[in-house]
Amino acid sequence: MTNAADPAVVVVTARPDPGGLTGLFAASVPVVVVPEVEAALATLAGRAADLVLIEAGPGLDALALIRGLRLRPSLAHTSILLIAAGEPAESRRQALEAGATDVVLPPVDFSDLSLRGRNLIALARAKGAVETQARTLAREVERAAAESQEREREIIRRLMLAAEFRDDQAGDHLTRVAGCVLAIADGLGLPEEEGNDIALASTMHDIGKIGVADSILHKPGPLTEPERCEMMQHALRGYRMLHDSPSRLLRLAAEIALTHHERWDGAGYPQGLKGTEIPLPGRITAVADVFDALISARVYKPGWPLERARRFLEEQSGAHFDPDCVAAFLSRWDDVVALVEERPADRAA
Ligand SMILES: [Fe+2]
Ligand SMILES: [Fe+2]
Repeated sequence: MTNAADPAVVVVTARPDPGGLTGLFAASVPVVVVPEVEAALATLAGRAADLVLIEAGPGLDALALIRGLRLRPSLAHTSILLIAAGEPAESRRQALEAGATDVVLPPVDFSDLSLRGRNLIALARAKGAVETQARTLAREVERAAAESQEREREIIRRLMLAAEFRDDQAGDHLTRVAGCVLAIADGLGLPEEEGNDIALASTMHDIGKIGVADSILHKPGPLTEPERCEMMQHALRGYRMLHDSPSRLLRLAAEIALTHHERWDGAGYPQGLKGTEIPLPGRITAVADVFDALISARVYKPGWPLERARRFLEEQSGAHFDPDCVAAFLSRWDDVVALVEERPADRAA
C-alpha cells in the first residue's frame, strides 16, 4: 500500500524531455521522474509506488532495475510497465521473467500506454487492498482463536475449582500436581506448549470424584471393598464427563482422568493397560499425582518427607511408573523441591 508521501508513479527514463511520459497521467496522480537505475532504486528505498514506468534505452539497464525492484517487499504490489527497446520478442520475455507486469513494444502508442498505465495503477491498488484486508482478517482470526483458547483455559480452571470444593484434600494438590507434570514434561524434552497443555489438563484428573458419594469421599477410616470399587469409578466417570468435548484440552483431560491410575506393570485400573499402552499424559500424571499424595497428609497417614517419597518413586520405577517419567521427574528434582516449598503440602496427619 502506498502512503500519502509515496509517489503513485515513478517514471524511469533517460530521455532529456520526459514530458510525453509524465503527461500520460492525470494531474492528481503524483509522478516522480528519475533518469537512471540507481536514482530509481534510491527514490523507492523503503517506499511504495503504484506504478514504475521504465523506458529502456542506452545506458539504462531495465532488467537489472526490474529485478532490483522485485526484491523489495515494499514493492510487492507495485506494477512495473516496461517500454522495451531492442529485439522485441526477446526483450518482452526477459522483462516478464524478471518481474515486469506488462511490456509495451515500440513504436509506442501513447493513448494505449495511458490506458495500460491506468489499469496497472488500479491493479496495484486492488492488490494492496486485498492484502490489507487479508492481514486484517488474519489478525481477527488470531484474536478470536486466542480468545477462545483463553475461554477454554478459564473453563478448565473453574472445573478445577469445582473439584477442589468437592474434595477437601485437593487444595494445592492440583497446583502441585500441575507443577510436577510440567517438571516431568520438561525433563522428557516435550515442547513447552505440550507440557503446558498436559499440566493444565492434569488438574482435572480427579474430576470424576464429583460423582462419588460424600460418605465414601470423606470417610475418615479405611474403605470397604464395595466403597473402594465405587471410588475407583472416578477414573471412568471423569472420562465420561469430558471425552466428547469439542475442546482438545478437555479431551486431553478426559484421557488423563481415565488413565492416571493405570500402572506401568499393568496392575492399575480401570483398563489394566500396560507400559506404553497407557497414554503419555496419563503416565506423567500418575507420577506427579502419587508423589503429591505421598508428601501430603491423609486421614490415615502424615505427609512423607520429600526424600522418602523420592525413594518410593525410584523403587516403583518400571513397576508402578514409567521409568522415563520417573527419570525425568528426578532430573528436575530441584524444581520440584522449590515448588513444594512455595506451595507446601499439609504434612500433619
Ligand atoms: Fe484419581
Ligand atoms: Fe490426585
